[in-house]
Amino acid sequence: MFNFEFNNPTRIVFGRQTISRLNDLVPEGARVLLTYGGGSILHNGVHAQVRAALEGFHVVEFGGIEPNPRFETLMKAVELARKERIDFLLPVGGGSVLDGTKFIAAAVPFQGADPWEILQTTGGVVKSALPIGAVLTLPATGSEANGSAVISRDATTEKLHFWSPLVYPVFSILDPETTFTLDARQTGNGVVDAFVHTCEQYVTVHQDSALQDRLAESILATLVEDGPKALATPTDYAARANIMWCATQALYGLVGVGMPGDWASHGIGHELTAFYGLDHARTLAVLLPGVWRYQFERKLKVLTQYGTRVWFLDGEDRWVAAQAIDRTEAFFESMGVPTRLSAYGIDAKEAAAKVRARFEVRGANQGEEGLLTPADVEKIILSRA
Ligand code: NZQ
Ligand code: ZN
Repeated sequence: MFNFEFNNPTRIVFGRQTISRLNDLVPEGARVLLTYGGGSILHNGVHAQVRAALEGFHVVEFGGIEPNPRFETLMKAVELARKERIDFLLPVGGGSVLDGTKFIAAAVPFQGADPWEILQTTGGVVKSALPIGAVLTLPATGSEANGSAVISRDATTEKLHFWSPLVYPVFSILDPETTFTLDARQTGNGVVDAFVHTCEQYVTVHQDSALQDRLAESILATLVEDGPKALATPTDYAARANIMWCATQALYGLVGVGMPGDWASHGIGHELTAFYGLDHARTLAVLLPGVWRYQFERKLKVLTQYGTRVWFLDGEDRWVAAQAIDRTEAFFESMGVPTRLSAYGIDAKEAAAKVRARFEVRGANQGEEGLLTPADVEKIILSRA
């Protein structure tokens, strides 16, 4: 393990009927911008709960933040926030609404010429941000308790990431009942995203990280147990609650603390979303098994541990490691998330060439220690036809 410092400033308020807590969590006298997506919160009663809790506050609304939030849309919210002299942001929705609002938070006070610089510098230019409090309705990304956001731009077909300590939500409300209305696709996506976040920090070069490993294994085993329950019974509170807490923990910072992350599946996956509009989690379900098989020898030790402790496999190391990858793939499929590009109508050859070319232009290697070159990435994508 390397030396580390750990600080996660987000206050988590978890459980049934917690949206009513907004009343005391939002600072008194705040001028609030309530941001949301395509309207799910208007249909499932979440919006009504939020507005009831905010009675007496000055609230302006901005809806229409799309999945894979677009810079072009978010800049309209930035304009509105400036005009209305907003001083507190309240995203209500999934990762896209939360991420989009983190960008708004950083862009409103941004002094530079073009707020897209926030993405081009992975957040390096962010010097101040409006405070954010979040109401999460889709467990998946961990955006509710981290400083990351991923924003897409139509004009350049790019999807870029930024991180800043200034955009962690000051609080996040997690009421598992708000997730009862998630359909099978979003439920499956959420479980896969949280699963892969955990794996990208755990199945890496091994660094004597006994506690982080066991945290990761607990999250993975819980998702394997409760994911199918939520699919079978969308109103199963216990399953929804466990998934929600797993998803937060997966990207809360503790699983990977002091350790090199892999993040190749995420890095490559963002390009597949940028080019083809594929859901974030679907890109991960396609790529993770390929990234692992391609680096089988290098990851053998931890894949074997993963197979033993999460899938309870018993046998010779190489067999356990190979089986563990097969089981992972089968788990994603069982959650309704296909693991091959052909299932989404994407031509692997074309995708591999496009992503390789883009990484060559950027000079971007992938994976822990940056060992995967653009040519390796091309081969991994081809293996997922
Ligand atoms: O837009 P609305 O109408 O709200 O509908 C959404 C959307 O269509 C719907 N939904 C959300 N909550 C619901 C619901 N439908 C019914 N009932 C509810 N309770 O679900 C659809 C997808 O929502 P979205 O927010 O796009 O999904 P997700 O939470 O998976 O977020 C994906 C985005 O997060 C980024 C991804 O790249 C992608 O852009 N990520 C952010 C990360 C971070 N900030 O740390 C890390 C992740 O790796 C990821 O990259
Ligand atoms: Zn993810």
